[in-house]
Amino acid sequence: MRVVVTGGLGMNGSWVVRNLLDRGHEVAVFENREDLSLVEDVADRIELVVGDICDADQLTAAVSALRPECVVHVAAFVDCERDPHTAIAVNVGGTAHVCAAAAAAGARRVVYTSSKAVYGPTTGKRGFPAYEPIGEDDDRRPRGMYDITKTAAEDVLNWYGRTTDLECVSLRFSTIYGPGKLQRHGGLAGFGQQISTYSSMIELPASGRPFVLDHGGEERDDLIYVLDVADAVGLVVSAAAPLRHRAYNVSSGRATSLGEFAGAIRRVIPDAVLDVGPGLNPMDAKESAYMVLDGTRMEEEFGWRPSYDPERAIRHYHEHVKAGRS
Ligand SMILES: NC(=O)c1ccc[n+]([C@@H]2O[C@H](COP(=O)([O-])OP(=O)(O)OC[C@H]3O[C@@H](n4cnc5c(N)ncnc54)[C@H](O)[C@@H]3O)[C@@H](O)[C@H]2O)c1
Repeated sequence: MRVVVTGGLGMNGSWVVRNLLDRGHEVAVFENREDLSLVEDVADRIELVVGDICDADQLTAAVSALRPECVVHVAAFVDCERDPHTAIAVNVGGTAHVCAAAAAAGARRVVYTSSKAVYGPTTGKRGFPAYEPIGEDDDRRPRGMYDITKTAAEDVLNWYGRTTDLECVSLRFSTIYGPGKLQRHGGLAGFGQQISTYSSMIELPASGRPFVLDHGGEERDDLIYVLDVADAVGLVVSAAAPLRHRAYNVSSGRATSLGEFAGAIRRVIPDAVLDVGPGLNPMDAKESAYMVLDGTRMEEEFGWRPSYDPERAIRHYHEHVKAGRS
């Protein structure tokens, strides 16, 4: 089928594009940048339309011309605390434009890349030491501006799902790591270091540099490799039957500690220098975002489980970086 991917040149989008191509779909990317560095290997197989999802007319014209059966909405603005107005314009307004454009073009389905952020900061049993898995029907408790925009975007999707023929679905990812993350998010002041820890732990040793963190090795999080994220998106895009739910967690369902992750890296990259101290809250965040998402719904409906455990993911990631492709 023909699929339009917004934000298809970014970290997640580039792997989503590859997965869709591997499944035999025709892929067009709607992006506000022309930087093809994360999709060099497949650039000649995608149609790139440069535009801004905040420009409703431009987006509607592009999507109508492409006539997709499905739109995967990946584009987002991440630096939300620093610039809340842009965050709302891109993540909420832009999402409304994407849904409207998809409906006008006669698309069947919109798949939205949502986030664990809708569950908000981790408190009580959701956090250390229980890390009780959070299900899709549990309370959403957005607090930061990123959380707020992802939650509002889901609600916008649900509205279009109720009032048009579009089938709208939100996939809520747990903490994603993989090639492209440092390049895209490593530079975000204050925030970037926190969200790119796992990628730094692999990319620094891959280039012979040490990774040092004086505390946080006992903190646990639900980690998902970007190829599993892309596979889940590809599966939901390709599902022939109507979807049973409006939201799905896409996660490992496991609480992996930073120390365990470092151990897996050492097994794959024996000369890696990783110095991770004990304790919690490695990045001294004011509020915890470490949590575990219950992935049962994806498994029950699609038989889907992640296929990359940390060791397999680290091996793939390491080879990717060594080949000079990150
Ligand atoms: N990275 C994670 O850990 C994570 C976790 C959960 C959910 N998500 C979600 O996954 C999605 C993709 O995240 P990512 O990490 O790949 O980010 P990214 O920044 O690498 O990719 C987003 C892409 O969207 C494009 N874009 C941004 N604003 C645009 C606009 N106005 N018009 C057109 N294109 C625009 C950017 O150029 C970029 O290529 C986001 O919706 C994010 O909220 C990411």
